[in-house]
Amino acid sequence: MTDHVMDAAFRPAALDRAVQGVLGRPVDRIEGPAKVSGAANYAYEGTPDGTAYAAIVGTPVGSGRILRIDDTAAKALPGVIAVIHGDKRMPAGESNSRAMPLFDTATILHLGQPVAIVVAEHQEIAREAAALVVVEVEAGTPRYDVAEQTVDTNPDIGFLAPVDIGDLDAAMASAAVTLDRTYTTPVHFPAALEPHATTAWWEDGKLIVRTSSQVIGGARKTIANALKIDPDSVRVLAPYVGGGFGGKTGVGSEVILAAIAAEAIGRPVKIALPRRQTAYMVHHRSHTVQRVRIACDADGVISGFGHESVAAQNDDGEFLEPVPFGTLPLYRGEARRFRTDLVRVNLPASGAVRAPGEAVGTFAVECAMDELAEQLTLNPLELRRRNEPETDPVSGKPFSTRRMLDCYAQGAAWFGWPETVPAPGSVREGEWLIGIGMAAALRGNFTVQAQARVRLEADGRATVECDMTDIGTGTYTILAQMAGEMLGLPVADVNVRIGDTDLPPSAGSGGSFGAGSATAAVALACEDILAELARRMNAAPEELRLKDGCVSVGTRQVSMADLVRGDPIVAMGKTGPGAESKRTSQASHGAQFVEVAVNAVTGETRVRRMLGVFDVGRVLNAKTAANQIVGGMIWGISYALGEEAVVDIRTGSFVNPDFGEYHVAVNADVPQIAVHFIEEIDDSANPAGAKGVGELGISGAGAAVANAIYNATGIRVREFPVTLDKLL
Ligand code: MOS
Repeated sequence: MTDHVMDAAFRPAALDRAVQGVLGRPVDRIEGPAKVSGAANYAYEGTPDGTAYAAIVGTPVGSGRILRIDDTAAKALPGVIAVIHGDKRMPAGESNSRAMPLFDTATILHLGQPVAIVVAEHQEIAREAAALVVVEVEAGTPRYDVAEQTVDTNPDIGFLAPVDIGDLDAAMASAAVTLDRTYTTPVHFPAALEPHATTAWWEDGKLIVRTSSQVIGGARKTIANALKIDPDSVRVLAPYVGGGFGGKTGVGSEVILAAIAAEAIGRPVKIALPRRQTAYMVHHRSHTVQRVRIACDADGVISGFGHESVAAQNDDGEFLEPVPFGTLPLYRGEARRFRTDLVRVNLPASGAVRAPGEAVGTFAVECAMDELAEQLTLNPLELRRRNEPETDPVSGKPFSTRRMLDCYAQGAAWFGWPETVPAPGSVREGEWLIGIGMAAALRGNFTVQAQARVRLEADGRATVECDMTDIGTGTYTILAQMAGEMLGLPVADVNVRIGDTDLPPSAGSGGSFGAGSATAAVALACEDILAELARRMNAAPEELRLKDGCVSVGTRQVSMADLVRGDPIVAMGKTGPGAESKRTSQASHGAQFVEVAVNAVTGETRVRRMLGVFDVGRVLNAKTAANQIVGGMIWGISYALGEEAVVDIRTGSFVNPDFGEYHVAVNADVPQIAVHFIEEIDDSANPAGAKGVGELGISGAGAAVANAIYNATGIRVREFPVTLDKLL
């Protein structure tokens, strides 16, 4: 077996020569039939013999300390096997943005903090018993109201360093035109449809965890760290994941508690968080308060840009919403100030939720650009064009690929964006006010360490193996497409095995880095297999032509199976951030266009149509990539119009921790959505040439909706979401 390691980014020459014609095609999800027929096993399915069921007990108050836990009544319930509590803590792992205290009697960080786990013969018994556990507390002085807390302007958490270039105050003082506005966004839940669920059991001293996780390699380390055991004795399985949205990037307390309980009772233990408990035991996206300042000349050319925010976290959490992550390189402007300050609160942990930073950062900045355009009497599209930077305005680095101007131009053409935007409130159809809005989208691109093993089997078919996850994104399919393209095999002849930490460590699904990193590793492994095939054909690799399982050199043609014969040909590909990731500034880009109708009587908003044009490097699968973007755009509608987790500042509880009251966009809220890609292979990004997709679609989407609502009504709402009460 060979190891193919990438040092700097490059495009495998074999990918340019490939003629299979499957990469990029809108291939249906290869695991689709297993999912719709029920054959695909999710974390809560497939019960090992003797499985017991668990439920978690949370604290009844949001601050203070625990005096005593009385489990007498719970233990007396028939069918209860054990009630486990005690003084343990779960450490914050390096990959774990869901650092959660466990059984910590000293400090209550938030309401519903896990303090005990009940194990029983049935789920219903476990949940009933959990309700019977009495947690006696001494209440502390809570901090539930974000607005009332002292702001820490020098937080020691968060990965995004503040940017302070030039003199923004001076730029604001001397500019012909300025804008200074503050916007707020509420708590957002990641709200995956599949519950956070785990089945854990011990087998010959090894812990096996079936869990709903986006990044199983990281999960394995975090679990080992929490239980103080060797990572090699932990195996994490997540063959199918029903949505993650950031909420499953880390390891939740239910995972560790299930492992502890399984060890304690010597049986497999299974747990699924009830929806309402998910609000407390899974991280959410923080509230934000965002001040945007822009200084420009009379033509709208920006000289100063400020995006300064405050986000919340509890006393334990180490994640700080990187609010300006997507806006840092968006527009020109010599003087720049970008920062996020912190307030500490007694609320469940804030963490990474799809498009950390830009999902909410673009709300403020893209609405501010709309406000500025109106002040300048300039088409908002033209204002953005005039401020397109030539190099990264923070780092000064060249962009790897940036087709933002093309996204604006193509989007405007396809949507029918007018030269002159109608005056706010001027277009009316009966009782409906009609408006249009647009926004830019940007998501930073990452390539991360990833490995993949590819085996060309004796029957001429290929197997791809790595510990990637498919969270509904299309991972299975794009890995098969990349291997099929490189090796000249139909997708049906590629078997993909993922979701098991016994397989080579891959990227995981997060940060929009999964697809590019994982397919790059597959491409590199395939290059080595091609070299071996060429050797067997007594030819140079560039002479090979591979199509539909046949290898030909000139007029000689051999079937793949005949060429492999005997032992499989196995190769390992490894990729990671190369020199090009440092030399260039990398991001995916896009432009969002929306038309809304707002009812003048009820204030109800209907999104009528939505169109986006995106630059994501190579499109690995036109269908799954577009699906990702559409999902993001729908979330933009959802964020703009409805999503808001309301904190009861008297108790630190969420008023609406379920799908009945936390409103996500449903089919009836979503109009026809058109997605177009401007494809330019980005060789600086990774050998696959693919930039991030998953988190791009939500970027700017909500702002485009809010801008359209303003255009329809003349009402500018700066406190999201734009609910109907704010429009009347
Ligand atoms: Mo993402 S918030 O890294 O799943």
